[in-house]
Amino acid sequence: MAILALDQGTTGTTCMLFDAAGEVLARSYRELNQIYPCEGWVEHDPEAIWQSVLDTIDDLGDALRFSSVKAIGITNQRETTVVWDAKTGRPVCNAIVWQCRRTSEMCTRYRDQSAMITAKTGLPLDAYFSATKIRWILEHCAADESQDLLFGTVDSWLLWKLTGGSVHATDMTNASRTLLFNIEERRWDDELLELFDIPRSMLPEVRNSMADFGRVSAIDLLQGVPVTGIAGDQQAALFGQCCFEPGSLKNTYGTGCFMVMNTGRERIRSQNGLLSTLALDASARPCYALEGSVFVAGAVIQWLRDELQLISSASESEILAAQIASNGGVYIVPAFAGLGAPHWRMDARGTIVGLTRGVNKKHIVRAALESIAYQSYDVFRAMAADTGMMPKALIVDGGAVSNDFLMQFQADILDIAVHRPRHIESTVLGAAFLAGLQSGFWTSVDELKGLREIAFGFTPAMDPDVRERYLSGWQKALRQTLSV
Ligand code: G3P
Repeated sequence: MAILALDQGTTGTTCMLFDAAGEVLARSYRELNQIYPCEGWVEHDPEAIWQSVLDTIDDLGDALRFSSVKAIGITNQRETTVVWDAKTGRPVCNAIVWQCRRTSEMCTRYRDQSAMITAKTGLPLDAYFSATKIRWILEHCAADESQDLLFGTVDSWLLWKLTGGSVHATDMTNASRTLLFNIEERRWDDELLELFDIPRSMLPEVRNSMADFGRVSAIDLLQGVPVTGIAGDQQAALFGQCCFEPGSLKNTYGTGCFMVMNTGRERIRSQNGLLSTLALDASARPCYALEGSVFVAGAVIQWLRDELQLISSASESEILAAQIASNGGVYIVPAFAGLGAPHWRMDARGTIVGLTRGVNKKHIVRAALESIAYQSYDVFRAMAADTGMMPKALIVDGGAVSNDFLMQFQADILDIAVHRPRHIESTVLGAAFLAGLQSGFWTSVDELKGLREIAFGFTPAMDPDVRERYLSGWQKALRQTLSV
């Protein structure tokens, strides 16, 4: 028996098969094509997203044939918006990705209602979330009023495809990222639907993250297997890290960086630029969380590789950064898609400061890695200020945490230990946990806690004066970026 978990992320799709000990029996990954139609716009082809899922499942063919799959868990890039025709099942346009800035201008239409929006949804009014993306699609891509359209975040789109178009549903964690969901009443909010002029009939039914989401009918290898767990990727990672109790937090280093703290039954209204969202408690029922979303983290390493061509692989960044003793005064603020938490400046754009004749590519590479740690530091400080809590350690996960330079620098800058678990892919593990608990594959969260191990701890070792110097250099670079 095994659990199959799908993680449909921004840059690609991962599919993993887990046994009862939480060990990975098989895995597959397919990269997803990023579409940049014009400056600041980011799209995905929804059919390519689905195809990447089919391909990863296909890759696991033999493993799937030999182990009987008890249930499926889905986790996904959040906020990314797909709208499709209910009759034909065809998307009306490409998915608008969470990073896409095309609706920044549109947000000003709703400026007067921003306090109400935040009070209900826990989110700032920003192009990051789904509501203005749906509105844009309705204004630009819908054929006419009579068209029967459905909206979904990526989980919802995949569920629809897996079930052969018979289930249109999502979970609370994904719903809480749309700017249309009232996180206190836990339902779609009529006033918000009216404000953004979005018909309720387009919206998926909202279920708990552990629930019966229907059975697969579209894939022979998985015919009849139930989907029993769905959560947005950051909430899934929190669950996969066993952060079930209030006060526990994790930081995921993916395309972006997402620090999330479980705040239990208490909804904390941030005074420091963080957002409130729904996450999962020990029973996988909705609870509150504080989140700091940094838009560009691992993506800055991709940029070094693909656009600047300074490195040929992500791991080369670690080698180059470690070859120099300091950043040489160079700072990169990777505001490629504006700045998220704690600044929320949609108009900000990236900067490199501190260039001198002696700067070489190692400095640029190191500054890019350091920028990930500084942005996480800013969010961490905001979280400490909002909650009055100063965690003694930070649990991390996500692809970029295999970079030892980055992890040591993060521990040094935060001046607390950084703990890296053996499974750095907590997101996909979280989806497996949800599906496994709901289907009886695992029986309790205590059993799940027993499956997790911390493999490596990074202890702060930086001289306080040096840390101060680095941090004030970062603050100066930020000020320069924000003043443009
Ligand atoms: O909010 C966006 C986030 O869910 C994307 O995560 O892992 O695809 O960068 P990731």
